[in-house]
Amino acid sequence: MYMKKIIITSLMIGLIIASSVLQQGCTVTKITERGGAQLWSENCTRCHSTPPPNVYSDEQWDVISTHMRVRAAMTNDETEKIIEFIKSANK
Ligand code: HEC
Repeated sequence: MYMKKIIITSLMIGLIIASSVLQQGCTVTKITERGGAQLWSENCTRCHSTPPPNVYSDEQWDVISTHMRVRAAMTNDETEKIIEFIKSANK
């Protein structure tokens, strides 16, 4: 009887730990939740080293990003976040 209680209790604790681990394991950042800086470092270095933001003006980055959006097959959303990040770093 006493053993049974211990087994059940430890099972419960195990379940609680397992479910919290699982919850954390499942919170892989969705693409939509990724920030511009992360998207930039993940995408823009795949094919070449990316020049630092201050190499180009904001207007030039607009053009570059449109071009690179096609090359990198990114969504508009991702591209906008990257542009936003580049421009914010371009001060
Ligand atoms: C699929 C490969 C690929 C990806 C991903 C990519 N590029 Fe490029 N990039 C190129 C190629 C190829 C060129 C050469 C010019 C062309 O395509 O006409 C280039 C040229 C450039 C240039 C102009 C040349 C230079 O070095 O100054 C810039 C700036 C640039 N990329 C920025 C970016 C940024 C920012 C991203 C992320 C949004 C990105 N690239 C993602 C392939 C890629």
